[in-house]
Amino acid sequence: MDVLSPRPSVGQIKPYRPQRPPRDGRRWIDLSLTHNPLGPSPLALDAYCEAAGRIHCYPDWGQDPLRHAIARRHSVDADHVVCTAGSEELIHLVAQAFSGPGDEVLCHERGYRGFLKAIRASGATAVVAAERDMVVDVEAMIDRASERTKICFLANPNNPTGTYIPTEAVLRLRAGLPAHTLLVLDSAYADYCRLPDYSDGTEIVENSDNVLMLRTFSKMHGLAGLRVGWGYGPTAVIEAVNAIRGAFNVSLPAQLTAAAALADAGHEEATYAHNAQWLPWLSRELERVGLRVYPSVCNFVLARVPTDPSLGIQAVIDHLAHRGILVKPVADYGLPDCLRITIGREEENKALVAAMAEILG
Ligand SMILES: Cc1ncc(COP(=O)(O)O)c(C=O)c1O
Repeated sequence: MDVLSPRPSVGQIKPYRPQRPPRDGRRWIDLSLTHNPLGPSPLALDAYCEAAGRIHCYPDWGQDPLRHAIARRHSVDADHVVCTAGSEELIHLVAQAFSGPGDEVLCHERGYRGFLKAIRASGATAVVAAERDMVVDVEAMIDRASERTKICFLANPNNPTGTYIPTEAVLRLRAGLPAHTLLVLDSAYADYCRLPDYSDGTEIVENSDNVLMLRTFSKMHGLAGLRVGWGYGPTAVIEAVNAIRGAFNVSLPAQLTAAAALADAGHEEATYAHNAQWLPWLSRELERVGLRVYPSVCNFVLARVPTDPSLGIQAVIDHLAHRGILVKPVADYGLPDCLRITIGREEENKALVAAMAEILG
């Protein structure tokens, strides 16, 4: 009897099972996902409520109002924008459209794990380039590229390391890859990084025909539960994604709410300012209680827990949970002694540091 089975590479995919705060009646502080601690914009909430009366209608197939709102806000050409159900869907669609069995797809050692999942789902072979002290090593990536490399995924800044590489290094990567390799710049956390040597990749897209930039409404805009992401890239890539995406992949409330969120510059500024205040504070305070914190430009930090044989990382996680605080272990990134901790509200950040101080002494 024939046995029903997916392609072998699908068997290598470890299902993503994020932790959830237990439903035990306690008010948990959840710093395990990269949520915006300020929540969504009030303008977005109003648009969401208004959309409720229209959910018997299919959404706009061409995503026109949302694409045009993105184009206005980000000064890009709406014809080169495509919207998806979170940027995660776009990562999958690109892998599906541009790679398959026999092809190689390049990514980086501590890179966002969504890349590996999409590569395996497409049947292609993942080639993973080493990083240097939690930072992408462009030369190592170029070294691992070959004639068979169809896509190169780069998360910049990266999750979970929180680090970035400057525009000049991204340009060096582009120049060192074969022309037939699509460079995908995942700029999910770009809104948090305003350093002069960093760019989200808009100009790189515009000056080449083999670069796609990904953005998301999940982080800065606080719409993670709605699932909206978008890509900006050359015609061939946008056409390929449009050809294979579900006709109505971004729901009607999602399109209207995301467009409204873009109009709220005040909410964006407040989110940026909150992060700019508490990211250095949390990094400093965690170092003060003995953790090594990697320099982050995102809305989270990666922290290495001191290796003391009498105190394993699980004891730290358990103690935090005892205090009602959830953080993200990152052992599946090859970092068994590290935690990813999201910047929360003031009282949440202070509660986390106090709980860390209690257990680390
Ligand atoms: C680097 C990076 N890219 C993409 C995503 C996917 O985000 P979403 O699908 O919510 O847009 C995430 C989510 O954590 C991420 O960290």
